[in-house]
Amino acid sequence: MSRVLVTGGSGQLGQSLAFLSQTHPQPGVSWTFLDRKDLDLSLTASLASQLEGLLSQAPQSPLGAYTHLIHAAAFTGVDAAETQENLAFTVNEKATELIAKACAAHGICLVYLSTDFVFSGPRNTPWRLSDPIAPQGVYARSKAAGEAAVAAHCPTHYTVRTSWLYSPFGHNFVKTMLRLAKAHAEVKVVSDQIGSPTSALDLAVALRTLLFQAQLPFGRHHFSNRGATSWAGFAREIFNQQRLKTQVQEIDTASFGAPAPRPTYSVLENSLPFHQRDWKAALSEVLEHINKQK
Ligand SMILES: NC(=O)c1ccc[n+]([C@@H]2O[C@H](COP(=O)([O-])OP(=O)(O)OC[C@H]3O[C@@H](n4cnc5c(N)ncnc54)[C@H](OP(=O)(O)O)[C@@H]3O)[C@@H](O)[C@H]2O)c1
Repeated sequence: MSRVLVTGGSGQLGQSLAFLSQTHPQPGVSWTFLDRKDLDLSLTASLASQLEGLLSQAPQSPLGAYTHLIHAAAFTGVDAAETQENLAFTVNEKATELIAKACAAHGICLVYLSTDFVFSGPRNTPWRLSDPIAPQGVYARSKAAGEAAVAAHCPTHYTVRTSWLYSPFGHNFVKTMLRLAKAHAEVKVVSDQIGSPTSALDLAVALRTLLFQAQLPFGRHHFSNRGATSWAGFAREIFNQQRLKTQVQEIDTASFGAPAPRPTYSVLENSLPFHQRDWKAALSEVLEHINKQK
């Protein structure tokens, strides 16, 4: 019997994992999702004892002890982090460290989600696991610090870097483009950042395979959908698949003027040898879900 605890239950990945566990339940695997009201990761003074309570009480419940923890919660506001550095590091580094220590103490396999933003600098071939990181900006540095905390404190961990996540759930680029297309005939989108849009639904399937089928060694991995594009190319494909006439005006990063720096090229070389479908096919599935929600 396996029991998985997921932080960030209200986020894109959390909701994608919940959707998957309901639509494709696995015999012998139960899932528990926590959101901010269950466990506020900014309250680090009480977090260690809260985690200890949660994990030590679990074996007395009919579902039994937790065997895996997917840490999907994070301070994900890339631009907001520039002015909320303390909070970003508290949630992404300190709380992650406490979670890693608690998992190690209870023999739990921890999955930490990290980001393509740990890379920066000139590049035109996918980033490999062995490439040195160079995070720019508060969000990227805080996530990199989370990676280090997990590696230092929980030997039984997978750190999975992913990129440009979107899903039928929560806030994301796809939903923003669809909203903008309702009100504007043309949208300005950045064309000088290249990455791999990744469906959180596909990431959820990949994580489940990683935990319950793949038997890969612990450590770092990269997972994203196959192929690469710019944000402008991504927007064009969204409009194309939705048969919208909205035009994309390409602009550069400097003209867009976002507060946080972003990598110009952040395509990841996949290290998880499964569910690597093309980003356009993954997009079409997510758009189908979004269209059904209307
Ligand atoms: N989105 C991307 O493009 C992307 C790319 C690469 C890697 N990642 C990483 O992938 C993981 C999942 O991303 P996502 O897109 O699913 O994120 P998301 O949709 O932004 O969700 C973040 C989750 O974290 C929770 N959270 C934030 N602050 C919290 C706090 N103080 N206490 C408790 N919970 C808190 C949020 O709760 P509320 O709903 O209450 O705010 C939400 O459930 C994250 O680790 C992220 O860094 C994301």
